Amino acid sequence: MDSRPIGIFDSGVGGLTVVSQIQQILPKEGIVYFGDTARVPYGTKSKETVTKFSVENVEFLMRHDVKLVVVACNTVSSLSLDFLKRCFRVPMIGVIEPGAKSAVSSSRNSRIGVIGTQATISSGAYEKAISKISSRSRVFTQSCPLFVPLVEEGWTDMHIAFDVASIYLKPLKAKRIDTLILGCTHYPLLKAMIGKAMGPRVLLIDSAQEVSKEAKDVLDASGLLNKSGQSRAHKFFVSDEVNRFIKMGEKFLRKRITCVRRA
Ligand code: DGL
Repeated sequence: MDSRPIGIFDSGVGGLTVVSQIQQILPKEGIVYFGDTARVPYGTKSKETVTKFSVENVEFLMRHDVKLVVVACNTVSSLSLDFLKRCFRVPMIGVIEPGAKSAVSSSRNSRIGVIGTQATISSGAYEKAISKISSRSRVFTQSCPLFVPLVEEGWTDMHIAFDVASIYLKPLKAKRIDTLILGCTHYPLLKAMIGKAMGPRVLLIDSAQEVSKEAKDVLDASGLLNKSGQSRAHKFFVSDEVNRFIKMGEKFLRKRITCVRRA
């Protein structure tokens, strides 16, 4: 039993989709969240830059004595997770493997689609993770760079979101995938539009949901769950302006956010 908090970081506000799922699955656990709002987006940056920023983000979380680090950002999980794991001794999980596992076990025709930022897609991280689990699966990918700004603008229910989704997803539809991994923190907010564009026969895998289940399993297996009977506090830190984070973050978390500080 361990009452220390879980550390979660992302390039900005998007990782709150992971916080939201972890709050549901592990309601007793404390959370320290760091959003690198001063340096977002990561999805257009190089591996070297993303890795350098991520090392600093983990160092920040370590100063808060976290028992597990959850890399909420798909871009960081794709480019830098292996390096981070070698640098730090704290248990660490990313979003790629849990999403890949769930997609492989859900797909009936072994034709899996992946969407994400440019950096995530060009890294080939999901293809690698899927091929390790299943040599039969075929993976088709598509970067969707306009999705992040659409979500941040709050246009998730507007017709333009459907139009953009239809254009990006058309090639994946043509590949007859039956499972699609939402490989970016922001995409769960576009789930309805993506689902409408893909049609009812395509199952959408939410990597935020999958990594939360993995966090529970890892804590349980290593005896690190908080079993004190008391729920712990949630703290949010950002590297830039607090108010913008709160305003946008409440949409991601679907709750009020208090206790945000500038790191
Ligand atoms: N958090 C990023 C991801 O999941 C999306 C935003 C960004 O480009 O930094 O890939």
